[in-house]
Amino acid sequence: NTNLKGKDLLTLKDLSSDDIMSLLESAIELKQKHKNGEIVTSLKGKTLGLIFEKSSTRTRVSFEAGMMQLGGNALFLSSQDLQIGRGETIADTARVLSEFIDAIMIRTFEHSKIEELADYASIPVINGLTDDYHPCQALADLLTIYEHKKSFEGLKVAYVGDGNNVAHSLMIACAKMGIDISIGCPDGYEPKDFVTAYVNEIAATTGAKVTITKDPVEAVKNADAIYADVWTSMGQEEEAQQRLKIFAPYQVNEELAAYAKSDYLFLHCLPAHREEEVTASIIDGPNSVVFQQAGNRMHVQKALLQAILA
Ligand code: CP
Ligand code: NVA
Repeated sequence: NTNLKGKDLLTLKDLSSDDIMSLLESAIELKQKHKNGEIVTSLKGKTLGLIFEKSSTRTRVSFEAGMMQLGGNALFLSSQDLQIGRGETIADTARVLSEFIDAIMIRTFEHSKIEELADYASIPVINGLTDDYHPCQALADLLTIYEHKKSFEGLKVAYVGDGNNVAHSLMIACAKMGIDISIGCPDGYEPKDFVTAYVNEIAATTGAKVTITKDPVEAVKNADAIYADVWTSMGQEEEAQQRLKIFAPYQVNEELAAYAKSDYLFLHCLPAHREEEVTASIIDGPNSVVFQQAGNRMHVQKALLQAILA
């Protein structure tokens, strides 16, 4: 019920609102089957290669387990061990892998690298996080919100912190589904202009309201969900001390969360740093759905892999 066969997922720009909704419905079905112990073998004989240039727990395990649950195979390819680590080009790697396997997931730094990989690969390429986007995460975020709220209508999602990869994909996801999205971030850490411009364009067609503010309280006011991510992303480690200071006013704690609706959901892509971007009382508290959200990575990615490969 989607037309994603053979397509790449580099950013959520690659998916229409209808594509996203069908993926969520398919994910719900696959999740139910998994819970019931029903075996699905839609990807029998298919192999997914997973290239990682950064660490990962959820992305790696959810893709590997998901692929195997669908009867397929997954190959973990650390860039340290690939010839990429010794200077073989992305273009050559893409063309060689296309001879062996059916799809590539890659986690890398510059978004241009995944674009280059996709240009040269003759097989679908899936983004497992770049410096600019994390589309699979945003699909799992939507699924989690949908499971709790039963609909996207009239919702407001607030993201507080660094306006980078996870925020970018969340903004696009919300705009596509007509969810109001507000980003609370310090000066200089706003979402990139080219993302905000795209999000505004989509929001104008779906009726979503997009707000970017320095004021975390304004961002969170009346929100149905509050979202946090680490203050120091992978690759920014040398800025960690400075970031602790800059982002301190953006901690999600009881005082800030009190501005949201009383039945707000707390979301976090994980890994989390307790007492930095979020207090333990919030992430381990009654409104937190972060582990369900992590689990949903696998279910929604299974739906995606099936749509692209089956
Ligand atoms: N949220 C997420 O992508 O987690 P990992 O870095 O563990 O894959
Ligand atoms: N913004 C974080 C997300 C990790 C899943 C990072 O890029 O490190």
